[in-house]
Amino acid sequence: AVGKSANIFWQECPVGKLDRQKLLKQRGCVVWITGLSGSGKSTLACTLGRELHSRGKLAYVLDGDNLRHGLNKDLGFSAEDRAENIRRVGEVAKLFADAGLICIASLISPYRKDRDSCRSILPDLSFIEVFMNMPLDLCEARDPKGLYKLARAGKIKGFTGIDDPYEPPLNCEIEIQQENGVCPSPCAMAGQVVGYLEDKGFLR
Ligand code: PPS
Repeated sequence: AVGKSANIFWQECPVGKLDRQKLLKQRGCVVWITGLSGSGKSTLACTLGRELHSRGKLAYVLDGDNLRHGLNKDLGFSAEDRAENIRRVGEVAKLFADAGLICIASLISPYRKDRDSCRSILPDLSFIEVFMNMPLDLCEARDPKGLYKLARAGKIKGFTGIDDPYEPPLNCEIEIQQENGVCPSPCAMAGQVVGYLEDKGFLR
């Protein structure tokens, strides 16, 4: 869709995506990790990034928390700000994927429509949505940053899962969940994603 800018043109460059894919021996894509705070998104993102690196594949992690220190420092946690947060990260992730990288985006991204918008700007099948399907009580018990405690005490308003919504994906590519009440290890989670990337030919 055209935004507010008028009289702008698309500039083609002589070196294209396929040339970069050949050079890097991989296909760019976006692995979009969504889930509650404390569900293990960053752990998966970092473990996956390390695993891909050790296989000689170029990957880059975009972490929601980290991006809010720079690119998205002007945004808060209203539905509108979260939408703008996801839109910007989706656009950046698209550029990384076009550059040939496996871009690993790790954000709560609580609204289905925002995640679907990101999917819609990427080439077919190159948006891989990974749902960290961990129960709220587990995330809350982990509470790695003490934020659930603050939210329960009313000191943070609009905290996802407490007094702000989280809409689980309806059709994600990969779901990470407990088995018999046990969470998979970081390596097992990363292995699940690497297996998918291998199957779909992103790591050739
Ligand atoms: S979002 O919803 O996708 O725009 O959020 P994201 O950019 O991923 O940032 C989530 C991190 O911000 C911290 N934080 C909050 N999360 C949820 N709700 C509220 N109100 C909030 N306030 C601060 C929190 O540390 C999140 O990090 P993670 O890694 O998910 O725990």
